[in-house]
Amino acid sequence: MKIIGTGSAMPKHTVSNAMLSEFLDTSDEWIVPRTGIHTRQIITDETLQKLAATAACKALEDSGLKAEDIDFILCSNVASNYVTPAMSAFIQEATGCTCPFLDINGACAGFIYALDIADAYMKSGRAKNVLIVCAEEVTKFCNWKQRETSVLFGDGAGAVVVSCDGEDMPVVLTGDASHRDVITYRRRLESTPFEDASTSIDEAMILKGRDVFRLAVTASQRDIKAVMEKAGLEAKDIRYFMLHQANKRIVAAIQENMGLPDENFPTNIDHTGNTSSASLPLLIDEMARQGRMHQGDRLLLNAFGAGFVTGAAIVKWGK
Ligand code: ACO
Repeated sequence: MKIIGTGSAMPKHTVSNAMLSEFLDTSDEWIVPRTGIHTRQIITDETLQKLAATAACKALEDSGLKAEDIDFILCSNVASNYVTPAMSAFIQEATGCTCPFLDINGACAGFIYALDIADAYMKSGRAKNVLIVCAEEVTKFCNWKQRETSVLFGDGAGAVVVSCDGEDMPVVLTGDASHRDVITYRRRLESTPFEDASTSIDEAMILKGRDVFRLAVTASQRDIKAVMEKAGLEAKDIRYFMLHQANKRIVAAIQENMGLPDENFPTNIDHTGNTSSASLPLLIDEMARQGRMHQGDRLLLNAFGAGFVTGAAIVKWGK
């Protein structure tokens, strides 16, 4: 499987650390060394559906394919103001595609899970080209009175078109629900004549940052090693190790342990913050636009998120 097109759409409002310190007891001096984040884009009057659709249209155009060439649309989204219909319904309408569409919630690892589903459709002969869109507005899960979580996140949508090249995509997926309490976000549903929901839990995202950090470093290193072994590849065969942009220190810790140079571990968290599952397609699109991808480059993609789910995959840059 190879990537043949990319696109992205970001909210227009840029929020610096100094802006956050106007209403939170925080500072640029605290945030930058602990996270690597300087600014993030935050949704104001845009809708996430529109950002997702714009990223999708750009990826489709970039791929050179027509709407009728897309066999399946997958959208990774943790939550938005629409519970149903799915975000992918808005994407189908905007792109003019007529194929089936489906949303998945693989938390911040959603892009890896979407790639795996696309690969399975290709292997079974049910799809040749799949449009994957990851659209997230994590800033709306946060309690903006809590500095521990709200400084970490940003919003955005990234998209890729992947195409079958006859080669299997090496992938490793792991889930360990014994750690499902490290990231939670619970909303209240409606009351019914049979249950009063008014006392059920309705709370902003709860994040145990230190636990996530520790789990992420361990799981990412394990998955990276496993997927390279599965593929029969060594670090020298991988052009870029592209890791979920949750914290620059997590990426740095893994890079240091692997003894590889900065240029193999690109990051963009400094100006995006953590955009959940959108972080990898956003990074891929940004690097493509900078001319840093070349035909045949192998990209090792790795992500972790609420669940606790993790995964790694190796895809080729096919443009
Ligand atoms: N500004 C100023 N001070 C702060 C802030 C802030 N924004 N947040 C916390 N502090 C304070 C704490 O209150 C604490 O103060 P105390 O020592 O007086 O008690 C102190 O800073 C240290 O807090 P720690 O939580 O110990 O800081 P740590 O060095 O562990 O860094 C961080 C916290 C950045 C959250 C780190 O643990 C981390 O990045 N974890 C991973 C988070 C993550 O990846 N989350 C998302 C994963 S899943 C997904 O992508 C959706």
